[in-house]
Amino acid sequence: MIRACAPGKIILFGEHAVVHNRPALAVPIRDLQACALITARPTEPDGSIWINAPALSQRAPFDSLPQTDPLAQTCRLTLAELQIENFPAFEITIDSTIPLASGMGSGAAVSVAIIRAISCYLNNPLTDKAVNDITYEIEKIHHGTPSGVDNTVITFNQPVFFIRGKTMETFSIKQAFTLLIADSGIQSPTAAAVAFVRHGWQQDPERFEYLFDSIGAVAASARTALSRGEINALGPLMDKNQALLAALGVSAPENEHLIQAAKKAGAPGAKLSGGGLGGNVIVLAPEKLVEKLETALLRAGAAACYRTEISS
Ligand code: PMV
Repeated sequence: MIRACAPGKIILFGEHAVVHNRPALAVPIRDLQACALITARPTEPDGSIWINAPALSQRAPFDSLPQTDPLAQTCRLTLAELQIENFPAFEITIDSTIPLASGMGSGAAVSVAIIRAISCYLNNPLTDKAVNDITYEIEKIHHGTPSGVDNTVITFNQPVFFIRGKTMETFSIKQAFTLLIADSGIQSPTAAAVAFVRHGWQQDPERFEYLFDSIGAVAASARTALSRGEINALGPLMDKNQALLAALGVSAPENEHLIQAAKKAGAPGAKLSGGGLGGNVIVLAPEKLVEKLETALLRAGAAACYRTEISS
C-alpha cells in the first residue's frame, strides 16, 4: 500500500497580475491535504488503474474516462512520463480535506498526490520538476490558462515568489502569523475571472498594465516584509492589493462585505484571494483578535472560516 499527500494553498499577493507575468506570493496550507492511496487489485487485468473518488461519486477504470477528466488524465500523463505500459492492476482512492473549487488548490493537490503515489508504487518516484510539469498540464483542464502558481506552491510545499515562466524562487517567513480564510460561499470558476480580466485588459491595456504593475510592486514589497519579519507592514499591503483587485473588477459585493466586516472588527489587513468574484477572503488576524474576527466573518455570512498559521 502506498499513500502520498499534498497540501492546499493560498495566494497571499499578486493574483491575476501573475497571469500577466507580474510576481505573486503563495504559501502552502499544510493543515489541509489531498491524499492518494494505492492498493493492489490482483483480480483485475494488468495495466488497469481504478480511480475511486468518493467526494465526486466517481469510481471507474481510468481508460474509460475522457481526456478532459483531470484524475484520469493525471494517470495517463504520469504513466507516459514513466514510460510504463504494463503493470499489475491497482486502485487509487482519493480523499481530501481541501474544500473543492474554493481557490485553495484542491485540484492541483489531488494531481500532485496521484502522481507521487503512482510513481512511488511503480518504483520510480518522479522529480519535483516532473510532478510540477504534469500538474501544470492538468491545471489547464481546470483553469484554461493558469499562471502555474498553484501547481508550483503545492508541488514544492514551500512559500513561493512566483513569476510566470521564470525559475521558481522560495522565500522565508521570518515571523509566523495567523490568517483567517473566509469562504464567501459563492463558487466562482477561476477561468471566468481570468477571462473577465483579460477582456478588461484588451479594452484598456494602459490602465490594466498600470494596475498589474502596481500589484506586482505590492507583492515584491510583501516578500521583503515577510523575510524581515515585518508583520506590521503586511496589513496595509493587503489592503492596497485589495483596492487594486477591486479596480480590476474582480471583487464581488460578497467579497467586499466580508472584508468590511473584518476591517470593522479591527483586522489590520484583508483581501480576496485567488480568482475573486466570490471565492475566498483572507484576513490578517493578530492573536488577540482571532476569535473576534472569526465571529465577525461568520456573522457577516461567511460559509466557512479556516484558521491557519503561515510559516516557512
Ligand atoms: O482561484 P485560484 O486560487 O486557483 O487562483 C487563481 C489565481 C489567478 O491568478 C487568478 C489565476 C492564475 O492562474 O494564477
